[in-house]
Amino acid sequence: MNTLEVVLERAKHLDEKEDLNRDFEVLLCHCLNKPRAWLYSHSKCFVTDLQEEKFFDLAVKRIRGIPVAYLIGRKEFWSLELEVDDNTLIPRPETELLIQWAIELNLPKNSKVLDLGTGSGAIALALASERSDLQILAVDFCEKALSVAQNNAIRLGLDRVSFLKSDWYASLPKTRYWDLIISNPPYVDTNSSIATDLDFEPAIALFSSDSGLAALRKIIFDSKDYLKPLGCLILEHGFDQALDVAKALEIAGYFEIQTKLDLAGLERATGGKRDAD
Ligand SMILES: C[S@@+](CC[C@H](N)C(=O)[O-])C[C@H]1O[C@@H](n2cnc3c(N)ncnc32)[C@H](O)[C@@H]1O
Repeated sequence: MNTLEVVLERAKHLDEKEDLNRDFEVLLCHCLNKPRAWLYSHSKCFVTDLQEEKFFDLAVKRIRGIPVAYLIGRKEFWSLELEVDDNTLIPRPETELLIQWAIELNLPKNSKVLDLGTGSGAIALALASERSDLQILAVDFCEKALSVAQNNAIRLGLDRVSFLKSDWYASLPKTRYWDLIISNPPYVDTNSSIATDLDFEPAIALFSSDSGLAALRKIIFDSKDYLKPLGCLILEHGFDQALDVAKALEIAGYFEIQTKLDLAGLERATGGKRDAD
């Protein structure tokens, strides 16, 4: 049997090119079922052979490029710990900008919110955790992702959120029902050179044609049949897509169009208000 510090030291030598130390710590804690802080005060504790074997199995997978979130099956988003698997995008910190924006709208009590492309349920569940009065429907085209999102809702006690399989708006009644439509759709250009960094996440969650703008444009142009007059549409997009998204919103008749920056200072979300017609 080896101590924690010896096991971690050995893992470091598996791959000297990349600094994966933090990831190895997270993986070891996962195998020990302990929080990360525990590691620092228990570095001389022994790890069983079985725990060590499980850890090295995960460490090797990490070195092959599999993201930590998929290896441990969860990811923190907003204040929630979400279950994720390879059918769902790993929720990103930049998407929290959408949650902040939605909260700042101060929607009237019992407003109706539609989350398009919910994945693990990140946006819908974060909003539900902040505003228990909202009536939220979360939609995705991928049934397996929807089942992960539904499990998250139940585990987190946020099962007031409803889920529906739909190709964007296709399965929804064409009524101007929603006060807010919010979405982090796939927006990476299908021909993008960064694609190889995203090898382990589902293509349906990432890529879109038309320079990455096809899903964003579809959501914007069809929204008029679903959003209440003066309702809001908020969209996450690529750092270089804000102008195209703002233009599409303008053509679709939106006003008070704004773009907000993420924590890295990149233009990450654009939204506006639907006209009153
Ligand atoms: C970028 S991911 C966002 C996931 C989650 N909202 C988040 O922020 O972590 C986009 C999501 O859109 C879904 N999606 C892709 N095409 C869709 C379509 N035609 N209709 C509905 N959902 C779709 C994908 O399955 C994926 O879950």
